[in-house]
Amino acid sequence: MERSLRRYFLGAVLACLSIMLIGCGASSTNSSSSDGGTTEGKRKLIVGTDATYAPMEYMDEKGNIVGIDIDIVNAIAEAAGFEVEYKNYGWEPLFPALKNGEIDFAVSSITITDERKESYDFTNPYFVANQLILVLEDSDIESFEELKDKRVAVQINTTGHKVVEGLLGKTNKNILAPETMPLAISEMINGNADAAVGDNAVIIEYQAQNPNVKLKTIEDDSFEKEYYGLMVKKGNKEIVDLLNEGIEKIKANGKLKEITDQDLE
Ligand code: ARG
Repeated sequence: MERSLRRYFLGAVLACLSIMLIGCGASSTNSSSSDGGTTEGKRKLIVGTDATYAPMEYMDEKGNIVGIDIDIVNAIAEAAGFEVEYKNYGWEPLFPALKNGEIDFAVSSITITDERKESYDFTNPYFVANQLILVLEDSDIESFEELKDKRVAVQINTTGHKVVEGLLGKTNKNILAPETMPLAISEMINGNADAAVGDNAVIIEYQAQNPNVKLKTIEDDSFEKEYYGLMVKKGNKEIVDLLNEGIEKIKANGKLKEITDQDLE
């Protein structure tokens, strides 16, 4: 125990040191390369994420940033010949971090939207998703429309937030919008909201991981298909082209489908 504690502290000190060396205040880093540095002279790109979004991007027990999105980016990096280092920024800080050049690109189950395209550039899509409603099992809510006069929890500034604002009105006090999706779901479970709305993969994973909480999901035809892309600083064509090269390669060689089990087209 004592030894593992010591190891833990040593690890923490080393982690802090590396964060200081990189000169950034992000709370966690890890790298897909075993030595954490550049091998074979490959360039290393800094990737920001919000690792609260299982199964897409989250922290494992060891504090590594893992998930389907991470597997995809690792495959893209391998295909296009670059290295990556992940930094956990959280959802909202991700956007300014990209704008001010702290990170080279963001992966975070980010839906490509016209509104975001005004301020950022996106790669080609690599994943398809849709919104899903999560309620307690004994709830009598059956459709999105019925949420109109209910209290609804969403992760702030996500597409789920926008969709719910569309139904309830932008300034409606019945919309609860915490920083993370797990917090939004907690608001519903605790009874502060009647439903949570968010990306399907994440809602389904939450339900699967928490069988002791009696929940049910509600699909609704009014939810449009959403496509995830990697997000890049506006005008950074070089990075978009490099990422697209990797994306198209892993689409062509079947690797993307192997990871996601999805047909995009
Ligand atoms: N797809 C949604 C959006 O783009 C939610 C993404 C949230 N991602 C996350 N890692 N928290 O708005």
